[in-house]
Amino acid sequence: MNFLTAGESHGPQLTVIVTGMPAGVRLDRTNIDRDLMRRQHGYGRGGRMKIERDEAEITAGIRGGETLGSPIAITIRNADFDNWRGAMDPWEIEEADAKKRRVHAPRPGHVDLAGGMKYGRRDLRDVLERASARETASRVAAGAIAKELLLQFGIEIRSGVLSIGAAGDAEYTPGWDELDIPDDSPVRAIRKTDEAAMLAAIDAAKEAGETLGGAIVIAASNVPVGLGSYVQWNEKLDGQIGQAILSVHAVKAVSIGDGIAAARKSGSEVHDAIRFQDGYRRDTNRAGGLEGGVTNGQHVVVRAFMKPISTTRKGIPSVDIETREPHRSQWERSDVTAVPACGVVCEAMLAIVLAGAMRKKFGGDSLAEMKRSFQAYLDDLRNY
Ligand SMILES: Cc1cc2nc3c(=O)[nH]c(=O)nc-3n(C[C@H](O)[C@H](O)[C@H](O)COP(=O)(O)O)c2cc1C
Repeated sequence: MNFLTAGESHGPQLTVIVTGMPAGVRLDRTNIDRDLMRRQHGYGRGGRMKIERDEAEITAGIRGGETLGSPIAITIRNADFDNWRGAMDPWEIEEADAKKRRVHAPRPGHVDLAGGMKYGRRDLRDVLERASARETASRVAAGAIAKELLLQFGIEIRSGVLSIGAAGDAEYTPGWDELDIPDDSPVRAIRKTDEAAMLAAIDAAKEAGETLGGAIVIAASNVPVGLGSYVQWNEKLDGQIGQAILSVHAVKAVSIGDGIAAARKSGSEVHDAIRFQDGYRRDTNRAGGLEGGVTNGQHVVVRAFMKPISTTRKGIPSVDIETREPHRSQWERSDVTAVPACGVVCEAMLAIVLAGAMRKKFGGDSLAEMKRSFQAYLDDLRNY
């Protein structure tokens, strides 16, 4: 199970190809579009989200709503392209439009400068168009398809916001039910009591021309024992989850279970005791469902930490790459914070990794074949 994306932020469209889905999975387009809508939502987003109404158009890999086992091709159109055609047309650009959109003062925190130097581009727009988190819409579409496969095995993924700036508590460990957050929640706060402080923090940041980051929890329920492996470094599922979540724009740290908080405690305070009562059970889940890179049957619980958005209205000291003189970083329409949306993107990434691990363990070309293998494994485990 994998996916590949293409597309510039203000280009005509985003393109996604998802491979590795078995045949016979019924997809529901409203579920895909719902996740795309959840990614666009959130207090503190910029004006772009008012222009775009993302919809996934599937052009290959399904027939009559059911997967065929072939690559699934998805298109998400950029409505904003109409406003950017002069500067972003793949074949012909208008000089005046391109000049107006030219980026010459790199934004610290973005890859503008390093990307320009690396690819030899003097208009830094050539870098930021692809580096932009607009790409995360592609991930959410791919993740929504992975979620449909996981649901066939009872696995569900949820997320919620722990903190935005200094508001909230990044170390709070929510229960599964607390992650059932309504789609229209303004900041997707796990604890309703944190919401007012989060909204106020965003308002204050906006007023000051500033931006904010924050912390998120992403969790998966009903994950079977035995996904991932300890036998090779790159088969460890915690490592794969870490890579997937760290690849999300602006995510700078990831932890599993109690993560950083566990490093301050003693062994018996951290490790989840085992007992047998009609199966192996734990009363705590500080490990976040992973031991030795292998799922242990508990919920998989991941935390992601997002840095503040790099495009600030007040600007950050930088340099004009034409004159090499000091120049504050350029600003264009941007989010004040995107922590709530980041949670939805992280859900997608966790879904892709877990769906991949399920495909690896249970194989099969069709869903029916995969389910037979899954059931046989569960039957065997009953005797363990
Ligand atoms: C959902 C989402 C939306 C984002 N929106 C913006 C934005 O509007 N403006 C911006 O400058 N950065 C935005 N970012 C963050 C940048 O993409 C990120 O700072 C940039 O990719 C560099 O971070 P990196 O080094 O982790 O890739 C967003 C990130 C996410 C996950």
